[in-house]
Amino acid sequence: MSINLVTLLYLLASVCFIQALKGLSNPRSARAGNAFGIAGMIVAVCTTMSLIFKQAQDLGSDLQTGFSLLLAALVVGGTIGAILARRVEMTKMPELVAAMHSLIGLAAVCIAYAVVSEPQAFGLASESMPKGFLPFGNRIELVIGTFVGAITFSGSVIAFGKLSGKYKFRLFQGAPVVYPGQHLTNLILALVMLGFGAMFYLTQEWTSFLIMTAIAFVLGVLIIIPIGGADMPVVVSMLNSYSGWAAAGIGFSLNNAMLIIAGSLVGSSGAILSYIMCKAMNRSFISVILGGFGAEAGSAADGGSKEQRPVKSGSADDATFMLSNAESVVIVPGYGLAVARAQHALKELTDKLVEQGVQVRYAIHPVAGRMPGHMNVLLAEAEVPYDLVYEMDDINNEFGSTDIVLVLGANDVVNPAAKTDPKSPIAGMPIIEAYKARTVIVNKRSMASGYAGLENELFHMDKTMMVFGDAKKVIEDMVKSVSGSVH
Ligand code: TAP
Repeated sequence: MSINLVTLLYLLASVCFIQALKGLSNPRSARAGNAFGIAGMIVAVCTTMSLIFKQAQDLGSDLQTGFSLLLAALVVGGTIGAILARRVEMTKMPELVAAMHSLIGLAAVCIAYAVVSEPQAFGLASESMPKGFLPFGNRIELVIGTFVGAITFSGSVIAFGKLSGKYKFRLFQGAPVVYPGQHLTNLILALVMLGFGAMFYLTQEWTSFLIMTAIAFVLGVLIIIPIGGADMPVVVSMLNSYSGWAAAGIGFSLNNAMLIIAGSLVGSSGAILSYIMCKAMNRSFISVILGGFGAEAGSAADGGSKEQRPVKSGSADDATFMLSNAESVVIVPGYGLAVARAQHALKELTDKLVEQGVQVRYAIHPVAGRMPGHMNVLLAEAEVPYDLVYEMDDINNEFGSTDIVLVLGANDVVNPAAKTDPKSPIAGMPIIEAYKARTVIVNKRSMASGYAGLENELFHMDKTMMVFGDAKKVIEDMVKSVSGSVH
């Protein structure tokens, strides 16, 4: 395959990736975006394989063994990916994504090590240079690719542990791990790491390269452990961005335009997403990039006050009666709706209410659920019309004139403490202002806290009625009784 054809095919794959990102920015075009992404990846992988095949042929390498190894890697990796993708529940996506990021980081480190040990195998050392000599420009790319990759790897492993919530290990707990002098320690370690990187640049010595990588692994852990509870979504998108930059750095070393473009697209889209989420959660973008922005969130997972306080509760029938007699209803979906897989029942309930002349809309918080766009995907799955779905900022000023807000499996995203308690770990985070509606109906299974581990004043307000139970069961009961209720 000629180099011109390779460039053309890489360009085609890049255009597909850009179209994929564009498509994925809206639920209506998300399927097309996915198709573009798959097509781009097929073109990129096939082109790279042909390129490797050609280079190996030119070098007179053992083609059969090389190609068999490559195919075996593709089959094993592809099979594991396909099984994981089929099995993973939507609510477990963030931890799967964190695990994937860790692999990208580790791959970047492994490639860098291969390049440093045998630069000539990657076409980086010319005939005129001493054997094993790495050009200075490549050393910089390798240093950056390696430490960003190592930080991404260990940081993503910690993020995975925190998100899964399954492990007893202290560093994997949702609560932030904080200690005195944390930021200073991180800063000193980062400077020492860069110092060893500079030493490698000047000397091409293995020892400095190894020490730099080891410090980067430790730094990845230290950056993520002070982040707890509600701040994890930003961490995941930040690590997503880091993994892209690590891949782009290695792309420079390997002289592979595709890796540079794909890495940069992942890096910049992850950074933009982190910025959007920081704005949605009122966090500082710079402190997120540098890590440790959740350090003050000491009480994030302490469950708030454990004192039993009274709440008003009612049945699904009571809720149906109220909803059927309302003029305007806003539904706030949250993580619990996804866990209960109640989206189809909810669509049925909405249809029945609309038939009865009730104006029904949905309000989506940018970090509701456990991944960006989680609620949009859930509602799209149930074919809820897009024009009924409103982003938080577009509907927040309408709650004052809303008859009923129906909160389904949401908690943190409607917690007024974000506005009223400056000491709260979620202080300053914009919320869906459900508490302003005339009446609030909340469905959840118990009085347990949400992801951030906080007490929610909304549940104790006079205007609030709790309907306890699994969201699917409660909504199905509401669907059954909605036809019989009076309007
Ligand atoms: P949460 O605050 O996590 O609250 C979910 C509520 O759903 C819980 O209080 C739980 O109460 C209830 N629930 C669980 N299973 C249920 C079921 N089967 N039926 C009915 N209710 C059920 O959810 P949220 O309001 O969507 O907020 C999201 C939180 O996750 C934020 O803190 C956010 O920062 C964080 N987070 C978001 C992301 C992204 S990117 N979206 C990623 C990671 C973390 P019961 O146990 O009493 O039922």
